[in-house]
Amino acid sequence: MPTILNVRDLVVEVPATKIKIIDGVSFSLEAGQTLGLVGESGCGKSMTCYAVANMLPRGIAKTGGSIEFGEGSAVSGKSGKPTIAMIFQDPTSSLNPVHTIGYYLESALYRHQGLRGKDARMEAMRLLERVGIDRANSRLRSYPHQFSGGMNQRVMIAHALAAKPQLLIADEPTTALDVTMQAQILHLLEELKDETGMALIIVSHDLGVIARLADKAAVMYCGKLVETAPVAELLARPAHPYARALIGCMPSIDAEELEPPVPIPGSVPLLDSLPKGCYFHPRCSRASAECSALFPKSSNVGLAHETACYHPVAA
Ligand SMILES: Nc1ncnc2c1ncn2[C@@H]1O[C@H](COP(=O)(O)OP(=O)(O)OP(=O)(O)O)[C@@H](O)[C@H]1O
Ligand code: SF4
Ligand SMILES: [Mg+2]
Repeated sequence: MPTILNVRDLVVEVPATKIKIIDGVSFSLEAGQTLGLVGESGCGKSMTCYAVANMLPRGIAKTGGSIEFGEGSAVSGKSGKPTIAMIFQDPTSSLNPVHTIGYYLESALYRHQGLRGKDARMEAMRLLERVGIDRANSRLRSYPHQFSGGMNQRVMIAHALAAKPQLLIADEPTTALDVTMQAQILHLLEELKDETGMALIIVSHDLGVIARLADKAAVMYCGKLVETAPVAELLARPAHPYARALIGCMPSIDAEELEPPVPIPGSVPLLDSLPKGCYFHPRCSRASAECSALFPKSSNVGLAHETACYHPVAA
């Protein structure tokens, strides 16, 4: 499959303070492929997504590296350019409470596909039905507060589909939902991926979600990518001590694995006081003198499996 997204040495910082939020992140994505982005809170998952979608918040800027999108992918949308769409963790607060669902979807359909009037209304109904919302005609007149969190997330997904995206970025799309809704939204994303052939970047704290949806996974720590691998390989043979510890924290309800989750000692350092060398060294049981001297370069430890560690865990 052709590569549709190529991120090289991405640097995102707060120019006012020179604090680097993302530092030298590189990854690529093929058409139809899904990347799962994991890591502790504050490690830069959302900022990576915002940078890719060109939606960085005010006061934060991309100051280095490159993001190439669209090479080899089919064009779509009114502009004729390939598109990226994004859905967020909290759908209800992401929707404007003063606009109806119909207004929200129809404006997106005009923006991306040039549809208006009856054509936009028919397509909005079709999109709502596609994401599993029944009685679509009357629902278009509803406001976000009249919908549940799960329904609003479906509306967000329908809104994203209006752009006919080649890449959908889903930043913790199920975190605010109960488990039943989570399962339904994950199933919907799976179906849409198969149907449309779009690529997906999914951010989640839940490695189960990543395991279910992603082809490959990337682990972030303090703004750096520390391990990238095919998802099954990463879960079975994590090479970076942090990735291994993160997987060790994952609770299991498997009857044969009643080991309690093992917490990672210490806490994530603040971005304005990162330790010298490998940022994980104060918390790492494998750390040696070189670990606290210079940040390790990324190297291959298997097929499409890379890690930035001086002493990766052996397979
Ligand atoms: N507006 C801002 N100004 C300055 N720093 C910010 C701003 N927003 C976020 N940050 C910092 O950027 C870093 C990365 O934040 P980001 O939201 O990408 O983390 P995350 O991995 O998505 O975390 P979470 O899992 O909690 O969503 C954090 O350390 C955060 O404190
Ligand atoms: S480089 Fe050293 S401190 Fe960092 S994760 Fe690897 S072994 Fe641990
Ligand atoms: Mg986030």
